[in-house]
Amino acid sequence: MNEIVSREEIAPRTFEYHVRAPEIARRRKAGQFVVLRVDEHGERFPLTIVSSDPDEGTIELIFQAVGVSTEILAEMQVGDEILDLAGPLGKPTHIENFGTCVVMGGGYGMAPVVPIAQALKDAGNTLIGINGARSKENVILEDRLREICERVEVCTDDGTYGHHGFVTEVLAELIETGEQIDFVLAVGPTPMMRAVAELTRPYGINTVVSLNPIMVDGTGMCGGCRVEVGGETKFACVDGPEFDAHLVDFDVLMKRQGMYKRQEAECERVTPVSQKRGKRP
Ligand code: NAD
Ligand code: FES
Repeated sequence: MNEIVSREEIAPRTFEYHVRAPEIARRRKAGQFVVLRVDEHGERFPLTIVSSDPDEGTIELIFQAVGVSTEILAEMQVGDEILDLAGPLGKPTHIENFGTCVVMGGGYGMAPVVPIAQALKDAGNTLIGINGARSKENVILEDRLREICERVEVCTDDGTYGHHGFVTEVLAELIETGEQIDFVLAVGPTPMMRAVAELTRPYGINTVVSLNPIMVDGTGMCGGCRVEVGGETKFACVDGPEFDAHLVDFDVLMKRQGMYKRQEAECERVTPVSQKRGKRP
């Protein structure tokens, strides 16, 4: 079970895997995720289900190797099996015909945008995509976004491809030029999602962000993914991961995301990647 059936590095240290998981492939909806544990020593972490093929019984996962667990996952090869794969978890995205939607992704935050964009299109919406990354080589899923959206703006922080600047600059320009925008979906680094929320707030544009707090069980039991939304405590794994951007307390989110930075750095220091898999204490 949970065998990796294909593996591709689609950008530097960013990987696309297809994994055998027939039950999840059959049931998953846009916006849902899985929680993985790569081996018996591994921590549990969430990844969005980008797509599924119920006939093949596979799901598509895209991740960047940015910490110990994702580095270990990145070392796995076709034919290897992921020990635990729980899902589909989280609430499916609320989809309706809003009208014109802007769907925007920052870096590998683009991965959750694609399935939601597809579901919005299937519901009859007109889509404008904004795809931002540090540099040309980090832009992912551009072709798939172009297949779904009426128009796509790409931007890079260093100006090596598309608009030179952040995704928020492109959104600001769309708003300022009077483009009709009925709904915005933004997924990416927390400062980006916060900036999008501040940009659309004065215009009252319905804006949804997909939050990425630390998750452990993914079923509402551990409290690890606690976030503050509209003055209420919510658990991103069961109440989200998507929330009204204008109600999210981004200060609390950022503080909690940084809680284990020291331990993560310590784990990196004591466990070189080449020795990590299956050899940790
Ligand atoms: P990154 O730091 O390279 O940023 C990607 C893009 O986001 C930039 O090119 C820019 O256009 C925009 N951006 C960044 N900071 C901004 C700011 N302050 N204001 C406006 N725009 C800004 O991104 P990365 O290193 O590829 O990391 C991707 C991020 O997406 C991670 O933080 C990850 O946790 C998050 N993510 C979230 C989910 C989710 O479901 N919520 C899923 C995958 C990834
Ligand atoms: Fe444990 Fe959400 S991950 S409560």
